[in-house]
Amino acid sequence: MNQKPRVVSVPLGQRSYEIEIARGSLAQLGRFVGERTDFAHAVLVTDSNVESPHAATAAESLSEAGATVDVLVIEPGEASKSIETADALWRQLLELGTDRQSIVVAVGGGVVGDLAGFVAATYARGIRLVQVPTTLLAQVDSSVGGKVGVNLPGAKNMVGAFWQPAGVWIDVDTLETLPPREYTAGLAEVVKYGVILDAEFFDRLESGVTKLRERDPEMLCETIAHCCRLKADIASADERELTGSRAVLNYGHTVGHALEAATDYGTLLHGEAVAVGMIVASRLA
Ligand SMILES: NC(=O)c1ccc[n+]([C@@H]2O[C@H](COP(=O)([O-])OP(=O)(O)OC[C@H]3O[C@@H](n4cnc5c(N)ncnc54)[C@H](O)[C@@H]3O)[C@@H](O)[C@H]2O)c1
Ligand SMILES: [Zn+2]
Repeated sequence: MNQKPRVVSVPLGQRSYEIEIARGSLAQLGRFVGERTDFAHAVLVTDSNVESPHAATAAESLSEAGATVDVLVIEPGEASKSIETADALWRQLLELGTDRQSIVVAVGGGVVGDLAGFVAATYARGIRLVQVPTTLLAQVDSSVGGKVGVNLPGAKNMVGAFWQPAGVWIDVDTLETLPPREYTAGLAEVVKYGVILDAEFFDRLESGVTKLRERDPEMLCETIAHCCRLKADIASADERELTGSRAVLNYGHTVGHALEAATDYGTLLHGEAVAVGMIVASRLA
């Protein structure tokens, strides 16, 4: 690890946790988890794009911390966020002797985080979860706030839970391997935070746009930590989405979701649809 991690605390009473953001920190994951919770057995869930090198580094670090580590690899893509894949994972967890002393570690984008989080929330009535997001979208959005779940045919995120992790470990260097289109789509959610919550942050994004495009690691650490702070504040003020105050996070999403649905979820990435949605919303305003 090259510098001190930035730490964002998520205050949720007994369910409080920390998000740590740093560079090259994946090899320290075992220490991070060990400081937060006892664990002798970790089930690491990832997808085949993230398996090597990121999930392998994470698994090695967990086993160096003294745990037995099992790695379960799913197919990449939104289609894996299904009850069928969850069912396959539940059965594998059972075969591996997973119990309430085990932890689930999700290493991947929002698909892996939502799915593995849902499996952790439901297996044995809920076991501990650590999120290790590896896409920009997952680092600034899906890994924060505790929403986990799977899709039903024609109904995104329809079955799920609020399941807070024991911690979120963000290594911005994992973004080096992220395809450019995925990276740019993630930036849309970053810009969203500036528009809805923080004009000064928006200005910083504007003046740092070249660094952001080049994936400058320092700029990324600062930007991701700021987004996590903003989302954590909103999510902890309305943990279970009861007051409607979380709705501000849906800026650009009404039109965005409509575009995704109208194109059968196969044409636009979520962030791309949200980018268009934000432009439409701002013109309407
Ligand atoms: N829970 C929440 O609050 C919340 C919020 C926003 C979005 N989501 C969900 O998140 C999902 C989208 O997440 P996503 O955009 O991360 O998609 P994703 O998980 O499908 O990842 C995008 C692609 O990048 C690959 N990938 C991931 N990390 C990589 C890396 N470091 N290097 C190379 N390739 C990598 C993946 O294999 C995949 O092909 C959606 O299902 C959405 O519903 C959830
Ligand atoms: Zn979104």
